[in-house]
Amino acid sequence: MTELALSLDLKDRRCLVVGGGEAAVSAARSLLAAGALVSVIAERASADMLGVADSDRVQLHKRGFNIADLGGIWLAIAASEDATIDRQVADAAEQRQIICEALGATGSCRRPPAIQRGEVGIAITGGAPASESGRVDLVGAGPGDPGLLTLDAVAALNQADLILHDRLVPEAILDLANPAAERQYVGKARSKHSYEQGTLNELLGEHARSGQRVVRLKGGDPFVFGRGGEEVASLMQEGVPVRVIPGVTAASGCATYAGIPLTHRDHAHSVHFLTAHRQDGAVVLDWGSVANPWQTLAIYMGLDGLEQVCEGLIQAGRDADTPAAVVERGTLPSQRVADGTLTTLPERVREADLASPAMLIVGGVVGLRDQLANACGRNDAAEG
Ligand SMILES: C[S@@+](CC[C@H](N)C(=O)[O-])C[C@H]1O[C@@H](n2cnc3c(N)ncnc32)[C@H](O)[C@@H]1O
Repeated sequence: MTELALSLDLKDRRCLVVGGGEAAVSAARSLLAAGALVSVIAERASADMLGVADSDRVQLHKRGFNIADLGGIWLAIAASEDATIDRQVADAAEQRQIICEALGATGSCRRPPAIQRGEVGIAITGGAPASESGRVDLVGAGPGDPGLLTLDAVAALNQADLILHDRLVPEAILDLANPAAERQYVGKARSKHSYEQGTLNELLGEHARSGQRVVRLKGGDPFVFGRGGEEVASLMQEGVPVRVIPGVTAASGCATYAGIPLTHRDHAHSVHFLTAHRQDGAVVLDWGSVANPWQTLAIYMGLDGLEQVCEGLIQAGRDADTPAAVVERGTLPSQRVADGTLTTLPERVREADLASPAMLIVGGVVGLRDQLANACGRNDAAEG
């Protein structure tokens, strides 16, 4: 094998070390000395590794390697002292074209640059971060469980200089971001818009033009009731480079984690995403589109005025015994669910005292919860 000596600038680059023993400690120290941000994955960590992990530039996860650990990683070093594990890391890194040195694996990491101990020397250096022109990544954070983020979302968070996030994005997701990134909360709680949309668009453009990598992090999917289309159009008009990374939308995450398949051959042949909100005391909802008994309704913002929504659905043609559920804080550890029928649900929700954010799901598929809930996402503390 021809030798290739590389000099890598790792300043503020996110790097992964798998292993908790001597070799991993040495790798982590070299990376730290080069100014990298280091994630260490180790089921058992030596005392020296615990010492290394004292640095605020190191995150130690005491568990086995998971493929998702490679999200946003620039360089990986597999130093587990177990050839099988090192091989797994190397193979996973190769699939993602991530630079990997696998100390215990052989014949792996063939993607550029192919690195194996003794075949390629990596000179780890610090120095100024690579200069990149500013841009905005409009990123879907999903409904809350960090496990539902896409690898592209994690990568964007790792590369961010500035993160502008809304209310529904939990700390556990923000914690996955580049620790050096500045974070700013930009709304929106219902009726308490902390930024007008126009001002927010200007802010995004301003920061990107100043050379920053800006992540606009939105709950769920930016293109589902998330105003993502408006933000992208405005940035494109200003000539700001922008990319959209989709997320799991609340309807999908909440339904699955509550054990509700949104479609099912015996119960629902289509699913309809819609919003409900109150205006001048009345519920605004597209009543003309809700009568089909073979269609699941996934209603965003349907909690406020729930009683009116359920009555309205019955008046619009839905059977009063149609199964229905409200999922509060879906996919989060604190998720709660109340279910019943269009007739009984408002009372069940009142009893359980559910609050926003919450998804209302209506249709025969809700009746499958008892059968499916244990296999789906979290086991919630279901009410009713
Ligand atoms: C303005 S919409 C944003 C939807 C988002 N873009 C998406 O794709 O999920 C906000 C509404 O989504 C629903 N929602 C978002 N996250 C939720 C969660 N974790 N649990 C329940 N409902 C959620 C609630 O109905 C909330 O009022």
